[in-house]
Amino acid sequence: MKKTVLITGIKRIGGYICEYLLSKGYNVSAVYRRSVGYVKDIDSENLFLIKADLSEHSTYREVVDKTWERFGRIDAFIHLASPYYRTPIGEVTEESFYDHFKPIAEAFLFISQYCADYMLENAGDVKGRIIAFGEWAVTNTPYKGYVSYFVSKGALHTAVKVLAKELAPHILVNCIALGPVLRAEGMSEEEWEGLLKRTPLRRKVPLEDIGLLVDYLLKVEGMTGEIIHLDSGRHIAGSGI
Ligand SMILES: NC(=O)c1ccc[n+]([C@@H]2O[C@H](COP(=O)([O-])OP(=O)(O)OC[C@H]3O[C@@H](n4cnc5c(N)ncnc54)[C@H](OP(=O)(O)O)[C@@H]3O)[C@@H](O)[C@H]2O)c1
Repeated sequence: MKKTVLITGIKRIGGYICEYLLSKGYNVSAVYRRSVGYVKDIDSENLFLIKADLSEHSTYREVVDKTWERFGRIDAFIHLASPYYRTPIGEVTEESFYDHFKPIAEAFLFISQYCADYMLENAGDVKGRIIAFGEWAVTNTPYKGYVSYFVSKGALHTAVKVLAKELAPHILVNCIALGPVLRAEGMSEEEWEGLLKRTPLRRKVPLEDIGLLVDYLLKVEGMTGEIIHLDSGRHIAGSGI
């Protein structure tokens, strides 16, 4: 029986991962709210699309149960869904805060919890794997103007460690803390180039690197609770570059 991955947030990087997983022979259950942008193989019989707004708590159980009903097993959960827009201090509202926190952190915790019930039905010692997509700057150097985003991504990083302990020994939970991969909407080419120059490697992270690391995390047996920086070295640059 083919392995099944449940993935959220398939507009850009998530869409690339969808394609990658389909090409590797996985069944993919993909949660989108508005866009399926980078997914090309939209008619694949191995792809199951679920429309859901992850700022609504009721969707967390639904997306997991629908995946199970469609494919009859869940082997991995990959969480990318994340808004990214400015919320400077003094202008943070309850609405803009929860617009970040719910899809980024709350969805991750609850979908992981519900997936775990099904993963534990799988055979073998390692029964499931969970991968969160975090952010290089969370650990030590959040930048200004993105309060709701950073508080939510910080909770996501913590949830990875908490769940890694709670779900051991049969489910592995890790996080890929990304640096610059794709220019954010509204960011100028000049800003983007400036950002890349602040990485020691002076270049963006290739999408292919993300595919390789996801592939690794879907196979590795001895790693959990890890926050892996895939960021062209940005987290070690500080302000010295
Ligand atoms: N791009 C980078 O260079 C970079 C750098 C650091 C970290 N990251 C992280 O990597 C991940 C992917 O980045 P990206 O640039 O590909 O993201 P993106 O293009 O900004 O897309 C964001 C995704 O989140 C989904 N989303 C947001 N709110 C949602 C909600 N309430 N319910 C359901 N889905 C929701 C969007 O779905 P819809 O479009 O369907 O609304 C979309 O698929 C994110 O977690 C991001 O924080 C990316």
